[in-house]
Amino acid sequence: MSSGDDPTGPELERMSREELVELGSSEDGVRVVAQEPAWRSADARGERRSRRRVTLWLVLSLMFAGAFVWGYLFWPSTYVPPDAPGHTAYLFYTPILGMTFFGMVASLGTAMVLYVKSFYPNEVAVQELEPGPSPEKERFTAAATFAEAGEETGFGRRSMIRRLGLTAFGVVAGVGAMIGIGGLVRDPWKEGDDAPLWVTGWRSIGGETVYMREAGGAPTDIRLVRPEDIDPNGFVTVVPFRESQRGNVKELLEAESSPDNPVMLIRLPPGTQVQNLPGREDLHYGSFYAFSKVCTHLGCPASLYDTRLQMALCPCHQSQFKITEGARPIFGPAARPLPQLPITVNDEGYFIATGDFPDPVGPSFWEIGRGTE
Ligand code: FES
Repeated sequence: MSSGDDPTGPELERMSREELVELGSSEDGVRVVAQEPAWRSADARGERRSRRRVTLWLVLSLMFAGAFVWGYLFWPSTYVPPDAPGHTAYLFYTPILGMTFFGMVASLGTAMVLYVKSFYPNEVAVQELEPGPSPEKERFTAAATFAEAGEETGFGRRSMIRRLGLTAFGVVAGVGAMIGIGGLVRDPWKEGDDAPLWVTGWRSIGGETVYMREAGGAPTDIRLVRPEDIDPNGFVTVVPFRESQRGNVKELLEAESSPDNPVMLIRLPPGTQVQNLPGREDLHYGSFYAFSKVCTHLGCPASLYDTRLQMALCPCHQSQFKITEGARPIFGPAARPLPQLPITVNDEGYFIATGDFPDPVGPSFWEIGRGTE
């Protein structure tokens, strides 16, 4: 290199850190104020011990990942009533997922912290900062310093740790992706009797009548609802009931706890002006209207009922649904009316559902891309 000609861009890029420092790139006041050997690995024995520890935590992380995947796929996760066999196992489903996921991420994090503390040189340097970009020489020196530090950690040389570390990262990322998109494997857009997102407990099965049963109380306490049970301007929360479920505690509990099932059965005051949504003119019975209680924003129960304004309110993000206008949202983040359940009264005088909801129940995002109203 000829003296007097300051090297620029590509030439600087090819130079080592020492050469750059010799050129004077650090003369602008970089001062190393503390320098210690890497923690615990100053000698060969210390290094071996550190390596074993990091390896152990990485293996532990992989074991937790395996346990998580196993629990996610095979542990009983559907509701089992307290007096039925398998109830205790069901209770452990969520704790098992939580503990194994925590173990997986915490072990990986511990391995990373141990690795950095054991193998990275501990150097503290300070430099006065000037306004604006640093000179070119300084920028290439910083890049060369990073590259050198990477070499010094020996990550490339320690093949066992490198492979285990990359595998653990891959597995943790894979598990995250599995949780995120695993549910979509079941195709939420699919329709039909086995499509859980489009079918609720109000659907007709084998032609059996679906009654409206008042929610709450003991599962075996069946209170079917009749028009005279609701005062004008009042409402009750109802869940589906079929005669074949009578005495079957498991099914009764399921019908009550299934998140899609709760419905507000509202009796409007006499003389109320109602504007039904197009295509929804025949879903009500006289002044009785039935709407899903599941908010179409993010699924909270939209069940605070303002009897002065005939409005259902969702306490989570304040969406308001105008019941006299087909429960369309008039305020708040909900973008879609509460789905309306088609109802009538049978010969015995009880309310029954004449079909499932014509719209999907719950948060609006399930409709993205379907073009439904
Ligand atoms: S969940 Fe109801 S407004 Fe957000």
